[in-house]
Amino acid sequence: MHVESIPHQAAAPRTYASMTKNLVRAILLSMTTSLAAHGAVSKASFGTTPDGKAVDIYTLKSPAVEARIMTYGARIVSINTPDKTGKVANVVLGHDKLQGYLDDKKTYFGAIVGRYGNRIAHGRFTIDGHQYQLPLNDHGINTLHGGTVGFDSLVWTGKEIPNGVEMTLVSNDGDQGFPGTLTAHVRYTLAGDALKIEYTETTDKPTVVNLTNHSYFNLGGEGSGTVLDEVMMINGDRLTPTDAGLIPSGQTPTVANTPFDFTKPTPIGERINADDPQLKMAGGYDHNWILNGPNGTMKLAAKVYDPKSGRTLTVTTTEPGVQFYTGNFLDGTITGPGGQKYVKNAAFCLETQHFPDSPNHPNFPTTLLKPGETRHSTTIFTFSVQKAQKVSK
Ligand code: GLA
Repeated sequence: MHVESIPHQAAAPRTYASMTKNLVRAILLSMTTSLAAHGAVSKASFGTTPDGKAVDIYTLKSPAVEARIMTYGARIVSINTPDKTGKVANVVLGHDKLQGYLDDKKTYFGAIVGRYGNRIAHGRFTIDGHQYQLPLNDHGINTLHGGTVGFDSLVWTGKEIPNGVEMTLVSNDGDQGFPGTLTAHVRYTLAGDALKIEYTETTDKPTVVNLTNHSYFNLGGEGSGTVLDEVMMINGDRLTPTDAGLIPSGQTPTVANTPFDFTKPTPIGERINADDPQLKMAGGYDHNWILNGPNGTMKLAAKVYDPKSGRTLTVTTTEPGVQFYTGNFLDGTITGPGGQKYVKNAAFCLETQHFPDSPNHPNFPTTLLKPGETRHSTTIFTFSVQKAQKVSK
């Protein structure tokens, strides 16, 4: 939105016209102030997919943060924030051109993943006695992030909204084997230092749904090395351990006295190589924490602090779980906008979500969505800077 500057004027007698002018001036000034406190939004082209679909990119700006979000996969492409000296860097991994995202089939950088973020065992679930089969795109055994062509690789419809953008996708009945026409709206809005993501979904047949954002954060700046020295706090006393295919067993043990205890801020790398079967299986952290506090209510999920840059990220959510993933599958073959190699542990993801494989675990919070219902979910990423923080030893 463009606001004209207001020329300075000599004092005029208080006529009706001058009072109107003053009123207009006051309104314009208050709009400028609110634009400064919240976000300004602009839109540009980000290329075309091979099947001819135009992709747009939206830039959301506040004095503290600039976030770019594109319609391909409703993905966060960059988030620029200052460090403790005021130096600005992009704190999420990504590509500078659409082609980079089209060629990259395994990272899901910044995407909204769905219909079912995370895994469904053997790609199978049953609703009302009817069994559904999804593509087995995870080592031919399970379904990951919604199947072969998930929401991350579809072009969403973008619409500018106050301080942000609303992305809409309609997934047809039978898409990737899921029942029901699913309509998803994801609203990204920026206010001050907080990027809010609000999800709403409806369906015309009973189905399962679990959308999340798959941003890879490195608070030192993308491509600046690993995140092993960044200090993580996760507000979860329990975990859903998995089998070798990363499918939860259904048990929910405590994290106490394990390398999974992040209830006190701890460097990510401190115990990542511990002799622990869960860590060995996943090649690092790639697990779902059960968040303390009620499902459906806003609560702290995690807080991360980078001692070098002073940047912090606070994640709050209405979701019952968070997948903490340490970029274990990154191996330097994917490079960033400046050609930097994205090595193993070059980033962490905090995917707020319902638990993996919930459709096959009646003891987990349900992911079932029925016609006439609307599923709502909110996650907020808040960025700030901090001088020093105590680290547990
Ligand atoms: C999620 C999964 C990981 C991995 C990444 C994408 O975080 O849990 O196992 O598949 O997505 O590479």
